[in-house]
Amino acid sequence: MCGIIGVTGTDEPIMDVLMTGLSGLEYRGYDSAGIAVANGALDIHKREGKLSELEGVVSERSPEGVAGIGHTRWSTHGPPSDTNAHPHTDSTGTIAVVHNGIIENYQSLRATLEANGHTFESETDTEVIPHLIESAIDDGADRETAFRQAIHRLEGSYAVAAVFSGHETIYAARNESPLVLGIGADSYYLASDVPAFIEFTDRVVYLEDGQFARLSPAGVVVTDDQGSIVETAVERIEWDPEDAGKSGYDHYMLKEIHEQPTAIRKCLRERVSEMDGSITASELANLEHTGPVQFVACGTSYHAALYGARLLRERGTYAQCFLASEYTETMVPINEEALVVGVTQSGETADTMSALRAANRAGATTLALTNVVGSSAARECDHVLYIRAGPEIGVAATKTFVSQQIALAMLSRILATSQSPNSTFLRRLRELSDQVQSILDESNARAVAEAYVDADAYFFIGRGYNAPVALEGALKMKEISYKHAEGFAAGELKHGPLALVTENTPVFALITGDENAVKTIGNVKEVEARSAPVVAITDSPSDVDAYASHVLEVPSAGPRLSPILANVQLQLVSYWVANQLGRSIDKPRNLAKSVTVQ
Ligand code: AGP
Repeated sequence: MCGIIGVTGTDEPIMDVLMTGLSGLEYRGYDSAGIAVANGALDIHKREGKLSELEGVVSERSPEGVAGIGHTRWSTHGPPSDTNAHPHTDSTGTIAVVHNGIIENYQSLRATLEANGHTFESETDTEVIPHLIESAIDDGADRETAFRQAIHRLEGSYAVAAVFSGHETIYAARNESPLVLGIGADSYYLASDVPAFIEFTDRVVYLEDGQFARLSPAGVVVTDDQGSIVETAVERIEWDPEDAGKSGYDHYMLKEIHEQPTAIRKCLRERVSEMDGSITASELANLEHTGPVQFVACGTSYHAALYGARLLRERGTYAQCFLASEYTETMVPINEEALVVGVTQSGETADTMSALRAANRAGATTLALTNVVGSSAARECDHVLYIRAGPEIGVAATKTFVSQQIALAMLSRILATSQSPNSTFLRRLRELSDQVQSILDESNARAVAEAYVDADAYFFIGRGYNAPVALEGALKMKEISYKHAEGFAAGELKHGPLALVTENTPVFALITGDENAVKTIGNVKEVEARSAPVVAITDSPSDVDAYASHVLEVPSAGPRLSPILANVQLQLVSYWVANQLGRSIDKPRNLAKSVTVQ
């Protein structure tokens, strides 16, 4: 986790660039933040808390210079505090370092450095880096060589940037943590993610694992592990900086929920043929696969993968789903040709990357289903299918979940041995965007949230394609409201969780038109008999009126796609519960958007 930013050669006020960068990265971590500007001496400011705390400090002092680095933290080693905030410095205070990732051998490095007289101020793993650089300089190395030598002693994952007092050059390196360079007219940037500098340039270079970069007002030089210069491709990012703003909504999450009709259209664009009803994705033109499919994913993406695996199985492809953190290469089938699909919005989630790397090592074909062009997953997998949701800033995944579901629906058709032309399914896919819009226009989710904001806990149940949506509904509720919420396959309720059901635990029942609806209604009667209020999310209100305290209606989109619509209602309920409780909706406590530690 954590976000890093660096800039050199800018003629904008440097604090504007660094603070803009940090605000574009705050979704990656927000328990403390700091900056270092390489002036005559290093000008360093750090504060525990959200970026606004740091803003208060730097607005009074406004450091000046053309080169600087910044960091927004999601703590791993040492609690949030001014001292543990980055940048960290060496003993002389002339070298400042920001870091995203985990240095696994920091304890032995620290012990060695301490034995050699270095003293440490923080509890972080990061602080060893400036001391290692200092130590190499003491041994006679120049700045760049010292930086390289320090990096070579690290084990673990890192994106690192360092500045030196009185110098305008930034040194950077990456291994298993994202780092992207921005190429301006006369200014150069580095960051954990593009939104940090998209306001200043849309031309980017993605650094690979093991590469180093030197950024100065004269330009950018990328080198490999051995120091040889690497030719890099400059790519142009298509995001509009406006996409990353709130556009008048109170929260990014609400804005992103409302962007779902557009996200669906973008995901389908030029991939569904009006002529013959076939589905194609140009990215997958070279994918010929008929063997088993394994999905690896975490959190919301895992719920999307559960949904996708079901679709694939229904279309005749053997598909399994694994939590990425539980996946090892021993799980890749050895006798058959496996396709391992990493479902990951960010393309950087450490657990998912670890699973994909295990699959690569085992010889499987790998596919990244991701939102982020140039992300680690996109670069390391054999194939990539972009979900095209656009930037998602709210920590709670919303529009990327729907885009993942749509992309998985397409993938299920692409991998199916034969595509039946002009199917109802394709027509319904195309109608889905308008149907989501109608929910957004007419939803009574806010009133439902008001009715149950004081509930002790929330339960979500569904069967079949609605089961993963029940899990997702609960995850969204707990993530942003901090209230207890659980999702179950509806049939499981009677096998234990029913003991938790009381008159103060509303049960959200997903009942959309398929053969499972009757059984789910049976489960609804079970909870109703225990006095629990029932909120039915349904495309057939007349079937549930007798049992439900509230109904959240969705248009009918068939058994496979109606759950996508039902999920939109659940997103809105969670949003409005969290809103009434005054929660930090876009940056929930303890969480970060991109989880780059295992
Ligand atoms: C969802 O709201 C969460 N932010 C989280 O569960 C997320 O889906 C998970 O960390 C996986 O992220 P990824 O899609 O970027 O891999």
